[in-house]
Amino acid sequence: MQKFIITGGNRLNGEIELQGSKNSALPIMAAAFLAKGKCTLESCPNLTDVYSAARILNSLGSKCSITGNRAEIDSTVVSGSKISETLMREMRSSIMFMGAILGRMGECTFSVPGGCELGPRPIDMHLAALSKMGAEITDINGEITCRMPKGRGRGAKISLSFPSVGATENIILCAVLAEGETVINNAAREPEICDMCHFLRRCGARIKGDGESHIVVEGVESLHGCEYRIMPDRIAGATYLAMTAAAGGAMILKNACIAEMEPFISVLEQTGCFICAADNRIYLRRGGRLKAIRDRIRTMPHPGFPTDAQAVLMAALITADGTSVFEENIFDCRYRHTDALIKMGADIQVMGKAAVIRGVKRLHGADVEATDLRGGAAMAVAAVGAEGITRISCISHIDRGYENFEDVITSLGGKIRRE
Ligand code: EPU
Repeated sequence: MQKFIITGGNRLNGEIELQGSKNSALPIMAAAFLAKGKCTLESCPNLTDVYSAARILNSLGSKCSITGNRAEIDSTVVSGSKISETLMREMRSSIMFMGAILGRMGECTFSVPGGCELGPRPIDMHLAALSKMGAEITDINGEITCRMPKGRGRGAKISLSFPSVGATENIILCAVLAEGETVINNAAREPEICDMCHFLRRCGARIKGDGESHIVVEGVESLHGCEYRIMPDRIAGATYLAMTAAAGGAMILKNACIAEMEPFISVLEQTGCFICAADNRIYLRRGGRLKAIRDRIRTMPHPGFPTDAQAVLMAALITADGTSVFEENIFDCRYRHTDALIKMGADIQVMGKAAVIRGVKRLHGADVEATDLRGGAAMAVAAVGAEGITRISCISHIDRGYENFEDVITSLGGKIRRE
């Protein structure tokens, strides 16, 4: 099992290019299964989750290859409609393929990925929506089959009880080739959903309202291939900004999606960091000690503060002057990184949805274990600013979402190696 060995205490300086977005790339790869033609995706991040998505596509008969940051997916001829249990287990986001497979093949079989690092992650909203679109659903010992009796789904009016990102994506993926119009009320508004819709429109889909809570999809007969550039990863961007805020120094984030990162940037600015954003670049400089954030930081669906950035911001606020309070409203179990941060000297108290962070003067290195993707990244953020050596194990979690993590940090002057 690999580890990151981080020697903290160095200020970060320099500029980095932001990677393509994981949470865009995955649903877009699923969407490419719908197109009868070749899709070329640029800025596709090199991540283990992306490789898992490629394996799923190839297992379904698509031809998917990844060279550097370009993915080529040809789904002109496809053959399968079942995702094996092994592939389902590799990545929770394999659930994203459900809507696409059902839309293209009229049938889809998969197993539900169990509860994972962030707590139970049910798919009841996904299934209820697909059922409204005509799918007959059976569950035999955990193997779920969705079947459109007429081969093609039908448009429906769907109101989500919560703006779930995955459910919104799955409904759109199933609706683009369905018969008639599908309306989604209380849809999620995350930028990655818009990115997937931009891609689908390039392939010939008819979708309106993405980025708003009312989305309308008019089904078409078929989709064709296209070339598409995946949007930058706002959470990876938030992580490197938080890391520089924690360690001190100055950095420029190039290829940044400024508007999409605004909910994070506006909170980070309150720590006293100087931040200037223009022309797809974000400059951040930290002078003195960070200030705690006065208002409760509530994670909310977009455009609220993103749950995916909660852990990395927390890691920076550990050494801020004063007390900051988080409220996690999206996932039940998203404070699992706090034990590791406490081991490094943090003063954190978790009480249900709330986490109270009382700023300490300094952190020290420790041996810690990554608990999940963003939690592991938060440990690295804290470690770069801490005194001494931190060893982070279970870094396969981090590799799921950060491209060349150690190279990026090294290029900023951080001391990190993989062992
Ligand atoms: N939920 C249900 N039933 C459902 C679907 C969701 O109860 O049928 C609940 C979940 O249990 C959770 C909440 O609704 O408590 C939000 O889940 P959502 O469906 O919005 O999240 P997701 O689609 O599973 C995506 C991202 C996550 C990100 C969330 C929220 C991808 C591949 N994953 O997950 O990203 O945290 O949206 O923004 O896009 C990450 O990148 O580290 C990550 C976990």
